Amino acid sequence: MKLALSVTSKYKPVIFILLLSLLSACGGSNNSSDRADDASNSTLSPQAALGEQIFKDQNLSASGKMSCASCHNPDHAHAQTNTLAVQFGGARLDVAGFRAVPSLRYLNLTPAFYFSKEGTPTGGFTHDGRADTLSIQAARPFLAPHEMANKDKAEVITKLLSRPYASAFRAVYGTNIFSNAEDAFDRVLFSLQQYQLEDPEFHPYDSKYDQFLAGKISLSDAEMRGLALFNNPQKGNCAACHTSSKAKDGSSPLFTDLTFDNLGVPRNYAIPATLDANYFDLGLCGPDRLDLSDRVDLCGKFKVPTLRNVATRKVFFHNGRFDNLRDVLGFYVRRDTNPEEWYPIAANGQVLQFNDLPSAYASNVNTKEVPYNRKRGMSAALSKEEIEDVIQFLGTLNDGYRAK
Ligand code: HEC
Ligand code: HEC
Repeated sequence: MKLALSVTSKYKPVIFILLLSLLSACGGSNNSSDRADDASNSTLSPQAALGEQIFKDQNLSASGKMSCASCHNPDHAHAQTNTLAVQFGGARLDVAGFRAVPSLRYLNLTPAFYFSKEGTPTGGFTHDGRADTLSIQAARPFLAPHEMANKDKAEVITKLLSRPYASAFRAVYGTNIFSNAEDAFDRVLFSLQQYQLEDPEFHPYDSKYDQFLAGKISLSDAEMRGLALFNNPQKGNCAACHTSSKAKDGSSPLFTDLTFDNLGVPRNYAIPATLDANYFDLGLCGPDRLDLSDRVDLCGKFKVPTLRNVATRKVFFHNGRFDNLRDVLGFYVRRDTNPEEWYPIAANGQVLQFNDLPSAYASNVNTKEVPYNRKRGMSAALSKEEIEDVIQFLGTLNDGYRAK
C-alpha cells in the first residue's frame, strides 16, 4: 500500500460530500439516466468496433465455443458468471485454468508495471502484473491450452478469415493485412485493446457511490456506516489499498492503489493444479511471471483488484478460494485471531496457517497492517455486525445504479 492519509484529512472529503449530497438530493436521478443513454449511443472507432466483434466471437477458439466474453461476460461486469474457482478451456473445454477470472472494468487507467521510487511494485495487467498493456495481455487467451487453445497465431488468423467481419478487418488495416499472420494477429490484439479502452461499458462510473460522490444522492445509514468503517485506519483500513476518495485532480476512485500484497489466502483445493503438493502460485515471483523469480520477498504478492462491482463477483481472490463477501471479510479480520476458521488443521492439532505458500515464504504475508495485524485472543478489527455494514457499502460500487 501507499502511506495512508491521516484520519482527519481522510474524513474531510467524506463530510463535505455528505453535505453536498444532502443539498442536491432532489435533482439526481434524471442526470444519471442521461449519462447511461450517452454511454450506449457512443460510437467506437473502426478498430474498437472490430475489437467488439472479436471479443464476442466464439469461432476464434479451438472448441468453437469460447470467446473473451465467455469468461468476461459484459452482463456480469465483464467477469465470470459461474461459481467455479477456475474456468475450463481447450478444444473440449476440459482443461482447467489456474486463476479466478478478474473483471475487465476500470482497467483503462492501469499503467504498465513499474517499481515506484520507494520500490513498491505497481501496475500491470493480470493478477501478477506481468502484461504491460491490454494489447499484450490479449495474446495469451487465444493461445493458452486452458483457454481458447489455438495452436499458433496463424491458426487464429485462418479462423478470422472466414468470419463475416474479415472484409471490415481489411478495410481498416489494409487489403494485404492477411498476407502476414504475425501482423494480422497484432491488429487483432490492438482492436481488443481499443474496444476495452473506448467502450464506456468498461468504465461507466455510474454506481450508487459515484452518484453519491457527485452529490446527486445519499447513501443509506448502513452504507454510510460501512463507508466509514472501510475508510477508518483503525477498523477496516480498506481504503489504504482500495482507494475510495477522489484524487487531487478530481478523478474518481478506482478502489485499488494498483499495488500488490500478500494476504496469505488459504490454498484452494478446488483448483486441479493443487493436486501436486509442490504447485504454488506465487504471483509476482512466478511461476507464470518469469522476470522477478529471484525476488523471493515478492513471492505470494498479487495485484490489489478494484472493488468496483465486487458484490457481483461469484468467487474472490486470485485463487477463487471464497464464494461470498461475508467469508472474505471474515477472513480479513479473523485470519490471525481465529486461524482455525480458514486453514486446515493437521493431525497433531496444529493449524496450517498460510498453507498456500511454501513455508520459507510464510514471513512474506502482511501481518503488520490493519485489519490483519492481530494475534490469537485479540478481538477482530470488525465485528460481525460491522462486516454487514461494509458489505452494504460494497454493494454501492455496482455499475448501473438507477435511483428509484
Ligand atoms: C477461459 C476463461 C478466459 C478467457 C476465454 C479469456 N480470459 Fe481474460 N482472464 C482470465 C483469467 C483467469 C485471467 C487472470 C489471468 C492471470 O492473472 O494470469 C484473465 C485476465 C485478463 C485480463 C487482465 C485483467 C486484469 O485485472 O489485469 C484481461 C485484460 C483479459 N483477461 C482480457 C481477455 C481478452 C481480451 C480475452 C479474449 C481474447 C480473454 N481475456 C479471454 C480468463 C479468461
Ligand atoms: C494492504 C492492502 C489491502 C488492504 C488493507 C485491504 N485489501 Fe482487499 N485486497 C488486497 C489484495 C492484494 C487483494 C488480492 C489478493 C489476492 O488475489 O490474493 C485484495 C482483494 C480483495 C477482495 C477480493 C476482490 C476480488 O476481485 O476477488 C475483496 C472483496 C477485498 N479485497 C476487500 C477488502 C476490504 C473490505 C478491506 C478492508 C476490510 C480490504 N480489502 C483491505 C489488498 C488489501
